[in-house]
Amino acid sequence: LPDEAQIRADIERLRQEKNAVIIAHNYQRPEVQGIADYVGDSLGLSRQAAKTDADVIVFAGVHFMAETAAILNPDKTVLLPDLRAGCSLADTVTAQGIRDWKAQNPGGLVVTYVNTTADVKAESDYCCTSGNAVQIVQNLPQNVPVLFAPDRFLAAHVIRETGRAMDVWDGACHVHEAIRPEDVTDQQAAYPDAELLIHPECGCSTKILGALPELQLYSTEGMVHRARESAAQEFIVVTETGMVTRLEHDVPEKTFIPVSRTACCEYMKMITLENIRDALENLQPRVTVPADIREKALVPIERMLAIG
Ligand code: 13P
Ligand code: SF4
Repeated sequence: LPDEAQIRADIERLRQEKNAVIIAHNYQRPEVQGIADYVGDSLGLSRQAAKTDADVIVFAGVHFMAETAAILNPDKTVLLPDLRAGCSLADTVTAQGIRDWKAQNPGGLVVTYVNTTADVKAESDYCCTSGNAVQIVQNLPQNVPVLFAPDRFLAAHVIRETGRAMDVWDGACHVHEAIRPEDVTDQQAAYPDAELLIHPECGCSTKILGALPELQLYSTEGMVHRARESAAQEFIVVTETGMVTRLEHDVPEKTFIPVSRTACCEYMKMITLENIRDALENLQPRVTVPADIREKALVPIERMLAIG
């Protein structure tokens, strides 16, 4: 067999032998999305990890996502095929940073985006994803300060939608922050009939919403639903480029234009067919979370899954 066909055949065999499930984020390489049992956004992946009965979870995504799977499944083997697959947004906040912030804001409720380490989740009251952040904040008791970390653009979206004041951590994702309003307006000029699908992590969202206040923002999974139900035939996809693969797969009758070819997450692209095959073969590299951190981090994740 040619190389790639052999790797695919090996993955098929190993997946059965090890009773493994491969779950992939929407930003993964096309060929990785193609072999996954499930492809979705951070919320969908957490739900999938919570309900799987496989013995092994191969996480085609980044480290914090594999950690979330490990927190939800302490008795399963969670594999991240390349441990260098991190997240610049998760790197903007530490557990000590959250502890200091809480000390400065006694009585505050800490809501952290799922793009955080297990240590940070262990210091949090609620987790959220881009798919449910508004709903989570709407469900918080009134008259309590809310500390929201780490993405300041997602926070701005939540404040706009809920009208609730929050203290906001000064973090951002390097990929989404780099998408400029001009990237969006240039593509709008080139494709005047296209609808905008904008992710709330985007640095451009505040300025674009200033001009188009009725515009909705979407999690990556929300983009798939919107593309299906909208009357538009063309869409400008304002997020990481991998999203175009998922949209073209699920909504093949419509056209998707990436906002910028350079909006690419190099961490997400570290996962390949080769390292998925090797991970299944060796049952390495594993992601584990120490029991004391795991118990604390499970609380905000379960609260999130119960609400949104
Ligand atoms: P969602 O897939 O939850 O919208 O998140 C995007 C993201 O940047 C994940 O790293
Ligand atoms: Fe993290 Fe940004 Fe990559 Fe998502 S796109 S994994 S937020 S660095």
